[in-house]
Amino acid sequence: STSQIWGGRFKSGPSAVMEAINASIGFDKRLYRQDIAGSRAHCKMLAKVGVITEADRDAILDGLAQVEQEIDAGTFEFSSALEDIHMNVETRLKALIGEPAGRLHTARSRNDQVATDFRLWVREACDRVQGQLQALQNAMITQAEQHYATVMPGFTHLQAAQPVTFGHHMLAYVEMFGRDRSRFADARARMNECPLGSAALAGTGYPIDREMTARELGFDRPTYNSLDSVSDRDFALEYMAAAAITATHLSRLAEELVIWTSAQFRFVRLPDELSTGSSIMPQKRNPDAAELVRAKAGRVIGDLNALLIVMKGLPLAYSKDMQEDKEPVFEVSDTLDLCITAAAGMIADLTVNVARLRDQAGVGYTTATDLADWCVRKLNVPFRRAHEIAGELVKMAEDRGVGLEDLSLADLQSIEAGITEDALACLTVEYSVAARASYGGTAPDNVKAQAALARQRFVDS
Ligand code: ARG
Repeated sequence: STSQIWGGRFKSGPSAVMEAINASIGFDKRLYRQDIAGSRAHCKMLAKVGVITEADRDAILDGLAQVEQEIDAGTFEFSSALEDIHMNVETRLKALIGEPAGRLHTARSRNDQVATDFRLWVREACDRVQGQLQALQNAMITQAEQHYATVMPGFTHLQAAQPVTFGHHMLAYVEMFGRDRSRFADARARMNECPLGSAALAGTGYPIDREMTARELGFDRPTYNSLDSVSDRDFALEYMAAAAITATHLSRLAEELVIWTSAQFRFVRLPDELSTGSSIMPQKRNPDAAELVRAKAGRVIGDLNALLIVMKGLPLAYSKDMQEDKEPVFEVSDTLDLCITAAAGMIADLTVNVARLRDQAGVGYTTATDLADWCVRKLNVPFRRAHEIAGELVKMAEDRGVGLEDLSLADLQSIEAGITEDALACLTVEYSVAARASYGGTAPDNVKAQAALARQRFVDS
């Protein structure tokens, strides 16, 4: 037999390429805390049901504490010959405490062990992202509170549409990130069942107590089906799906920052600490952080796809393919951490060019709808007719190269005789936003109230 933990039935050990393709320790060492927590729970349970003695339990628990401390301290020597985190920990445990270490793996397989470790890790990732998204929401709500009445152009098709307020625009993202948070919370709730005790695939003949290990590890209950438990990676997919949607939202925000910081827009200025210069063009302030947030969404989406593709052809139960689940999840978690933090920094220290936004808010006949609405209200014409009147006035203004507000009353009356002086008042951007007081609309009073409500819903709760 070989020196491998599973070497009993082998004459010779794995070749170099076998070891290289098989080893996961290079990345799954990130699971060490979860792996040791799982082993602790399993060991306590084995002693409680009488499968191991209390003396063995105590020796194992002491040894695990020592292993954990060595890994924490960076003195632990990881070995790829030992394949993965599970066998690295167990082998070190054996070196430290001898024979009792060999009893820890009773009624357990690496299949339920890794499923448990990984759920614990992904569960923590779901919790971590909550605080990060909350910090981002907080930065956006703070901008909204400050700029609830700051008028800016609103766009559809990136064409000037109707004036909105900057606060309203910020709060749109606050809603997206709020839904993202609830997706992570949903995924967390669903994944919170404990696979430990499913063993290799079929369960075990030992009188284990799965309720106890589930409780010990903070799970709501044990999983219901042992085959499912060792085959399921939905929890990782759901986490990455929620992350991919979040990354997509971050990317849209980043795209807007890239546009808004351009010399042609000049809507906002990013803080120096989150901008970069050019090695040749002295005037440049490049929004690299925003561009990278936009680009890194590609990785996150790619990682989700990578695991979906790994999983889609696998028969039940465990296949080694599933070892490929970790790198995408780790990359998603690291990438998302970085992108949310960068976005929060950019928003918190964003300088909003209020005068420029106001100037631009009316460009492109953005109050034409207000003029049509005036005709509906005051002249009682059907909206379709009002649309036509306002459209003809836009055409007149455009032909002369002026704004709607530059037309005279006589000009207005040349298209529709009934128009009176007070129609001119509705052509200002301030009038336009104030008029949109419908629930969820952009009127400053609304936005102010919605910012306060958002603070309550997402930050103070
Ligand atoms: N390193 C493996 C993984 O990450 C652990 C499970 C191995 N199980 C097995 N039967 N070889 O999936």
